[in-house]
Amino acid sequence: MPIISPSMLSADFLNLGAEIDMINESDADWFHLDVMDGRFVPNITFGMPIISAMKKRARKPFDVHLMIVEPEKYFEAFAKAGADILSVHIEVSPHLHRNLQAIKALGMKAGVAVNPHTPIAMLSDVISDIDVVCLMSVNPGFGGQKFIDQTIHKIRQLKQMISECGAHTLIEIDGGVTLDNAHTIIKSGADVLVAGNTVFSSPNPKDTIKSLKEITK
Ligand code: DX5
Ligand code: ZN
Repeated sequence: MPIISPSMLSADFLNLGAEIDMINESDADWFHLDVMDGRFVPNITFGMPIISAMKKRARKPFDVHLMIVEPEKYFEAFAKAGADILSVHIEVSPHLHRNLQAIKALGMKAGVAVNPHTPIAMLSDVISDIDVVCLMSVNPGFGGQKFIDQTIHKIRQLKQMISECGAHTLIEIDGGVTLDNAHTIIKSGADVLVAGNTVFSSPNPKDTIKSLKEITK
């Protein structure tokens, strides 16, 4: 069964407590938290104070996706705020290997997020050091965008790279995941589905999460 990580970017921020309770009670596995700085991506969301407030109520791991420049400046702050998995973008990490070690030294799982234009080959020499690859299936910055079909090819390539290395890296797909395309995504080799719009704009978010969770290869 896939790991389901609902993106809180599409939650109702005025009722964040109730939205967190809903995820707690649902079949979701993680909370996906999108941090944006208005520099790496053309949007700004939330940071440490909101994450630490959410942590008091949430009962599932925090999968924090940093879409910020110079992410290494804030690793410790995100660890303190409650991140369990911390993902940095490869495009803002000239020292990716160092970043991965620094994240793990703080007790978190280390993730690498990859933009749609970035070749999978960029990961080949560090794949065994990565806990989760967050493959962007939209251009990062906003929820509710359309899935980029080329991602399916990248999932297969990445899956092959991981098995050739005997690594245990999880493949997470982020952006435009729907009940219609989720099966193809899982069948291609993905382990984790992020879903914002699909979950939170559905009439019954808990049922939608359940349907995503029940998708099999
Ligand atoms: C986009 C974010 C995604 C986004 C996904 O930059 O990284 O996590 O919230 O939203 P949906 O599922 O609506 O495409
Ligand atoms: Zn994300």
